[in-house]
Amino acid sequence: MTTEQAPAADWLQSVRWNSLEDRLDLLDQRLLPDEIVYLELTTSEQVWDAIKQLAVRGAPAIGIAAAFGVYLGIRPFEGSREDLLAEVGRQCDYLATSRPTAVNLFWALDRMRAKAASLLGASAEGSVEPEAAKQALLGEAIAIQSEDEETCRLIGEHALGLFQDGMGVLTHCNAGGLATARYGTALAPMYLAQERGIALKVFADETRPVLQGARLTAFELQQAGVDVTLICDNMAGAVMAKGWIQAVIVGTDRVAANGDVANKIGTYSVAVLAKAHGIPFYVACPMSTIDLNTPTGADIPIEERHEDEITQGFGKRTAPVGVKVYNPAFDVTPNEYVTAIITEKGVIRGPYSENLKKLFK
Ligand code: MRU
Repeated sequence: MTTEQAPAADWLQSVRWNSLEDRLDLLDQRLLPDEIVYLELTTSEQVWDAIKQLAVRGAPAIGIAAAFGVYLGIRPFEGSREDLLAEVGRQCDYLATSRPTAVNLFWALDRMRAKAASLLGASAEGSVEPEAAKQALLGEAIAIQSEDEETCRLIGEHALGLFQDGMGVLTHCNAGGLATARYGTALAPMYLAQERGIALKVFADETRPVLQGARLTAFELQQAGVDVTLICDNMAGAVMAKGWIQAVIVGTDRVAANGDVANKIGTYSVAVLAKAHGIPFYVACPMSTIDLNTPTGADIPIEERHEDEITQGFGKRTAPVGVKVYNPAFDVTPNEYVTAIITEKGVIRGPYSENLKKLFK
């Protein structure tokens, strides 16, 4: 574990491949904003745990971390090409059990499986030795990460076209640089606006129960000098009623084929409030978050987390011992509340069943 005063990059990278030490350095997001600590991970079990415990979180970031986890998992393996291919499959199956909702996790693992098959499978061209295949899989994880940075920047470009100077923009949870390779999805237009002197006034919901909005979004935007105001989740309606919000933009963990969107618990309430106030509700995500194999939001597996997040979330007990608790980590916003979905390919509007399919053609 290392504690840093000054981050290595000029932004805080949540996932850092350390090529000198052949290990994964993960910013422990549970400790933000108080401490900047990088976990030094050398096994796939440690990566699984970091995803499960939210040390790394946010759909793209957990996919990236898991891809490196596959490499760490196969690194000590010794055996034939065929056995290595089977081991990649086992590592992917294992890492896929860490969290159920964000489809980017499964997307990244599928990409690692496909890379392994192309190098080691029966129909692979040439004969790549196991050690070379391991290095190529590490290269694939690095590529997933660097492509995500470019993707997020493009999302930001497209989303920025929806905003004008002086607008108030509300966001929920953290879909920022910390949740991705860089820039984020929902926060990407805010960073680009900042670069170009376009003034946006951002309102960040604190995002109960584990406060990604307060601890992460408010933190990273403040660090970047973006005008950000923190509000409690139950203030969103009041702020909209005052006329301070002209757009809502959030990230997502999975978009179903019909345009229903799973995101951090509380997003649905924000979408309903936005509609009631005539405010556009935008969802920003990479193409890898769109899952045409999941027909509707009702088919998206929603993670439930431990009751302690609600009863002792502030480091002290805030509810009676033994009280019944329901703690879903995500909710589903039906497509009729979604004004547009912004990906690296552009801005998509309804009807989503048709228009999302067209995007993949
Ligand atoms: O539980 P978390 O913190 O992983 O939830 C994260 C979110 O809900 C984000 O909005 C989503 O993953 C998009 S991140 C670009």
